[in-house]
Amino acid sequence: MLSVLKLTAQSSLAHNRVSVRCSGTFSAFSKKISKANLSLSSLRIAQCDFFKPQLQQCCALHTSASSRQSEKVSNQDDSLSMNARLKIVAVFLATWCGVYFAAKYNRSRKQLEDRDAEMKQVDIGASDYELIDQDGQIRTKKDFLGRWFLLYFGFTHCPDICPEELDKMAEIIKTIDSDNTVPDLLPVFVSVDPERDTPDVIKKYVSEFHPNFVGLTGTKDQVKQAAKAFRVYFSAGPRDEDNDYIIDHSIVMYLMSPQGNFVDYYGSRGIPSEKIIESIKQNMRNYRRLHG
Ligand code: NI
Repeated sequence: MLSVLKLTAQSSLAHNRVSVRCSGTFSAFSKKISKANLSLSSLRIAQCDFFKPQLQQCCALHTSASSRQSEKVSNQDDSLSMNARLKIVAVFLATWCGVYFAAKYNRSRKQLEDRDAEMKQVDIGASDYELIDQDGQIRTKKDFLGRWFLLYFGFTHCPDICPEELDKMAEIIKTIDSDNTVPDLLPVFVSVDPERDTPDVIKKYVSEFHPNFVGLTGTKDQVKQAAKAFRVYFSAGPRDEDNDYIIDHSIVMYLMSPQGNFVDYYGSRGIPSEKIIESIKQNMRNYRRLHG
């Protein structure tokens, strides 16, 4: 008994049409069809000498079973396909986000580096100076290296502006020092009135604002040299009959980095403390990104 069966089948996974040809007994056909495990799209009996009805019945059963399996596989396939698509989208999004944020990070770092380089060129506090602190000790530029400091020039006889500015500085220092995420900030007051502001006078004056204040004074030349180093203007007005006088001076706070470089300044009396504090913190964070 020789029978030739030609199957035209469709793989449910690969969607390829395949032809299966086999010859032999009905039992061999049956096994072949089972092994094919394909979704039968058409079945054509090329030659079947015997058991034609049985073969058709068998193939019909196989086709039916295979269709159900095919449907199941097809659903799995759709689900696999959906998962695959989701994975592709996820990978794409992750890659895009990675590239975007890396570019953004590099751009902002480049901006910080550019600004840092610019600030190093600014001639404020760059040259050396020598002053006397409230304890009579000589202080030079290198004594302030390694820590952040906020510097202000004024004089103890100033009627209103200097006390207001030093109050503001004290508030800034308290807030910055109580924040553990940023370094401490040292308040520094430099007198532009060396004639009246002796170390003792300065000591008493600055302690009224904040215990951490470093008060500096010096000879006329020393004060002049320091003011020049920080580009601070000051000029004494005329004296009255009591030999009292007012000194006109720049009203500016300088933020200096641990490297002794100028970082920022806060010159307007109208700037609220909160804005200055936020700016100082941001400058400190930027500095840490660049210098660790
Ligand atoms: Ni003043």
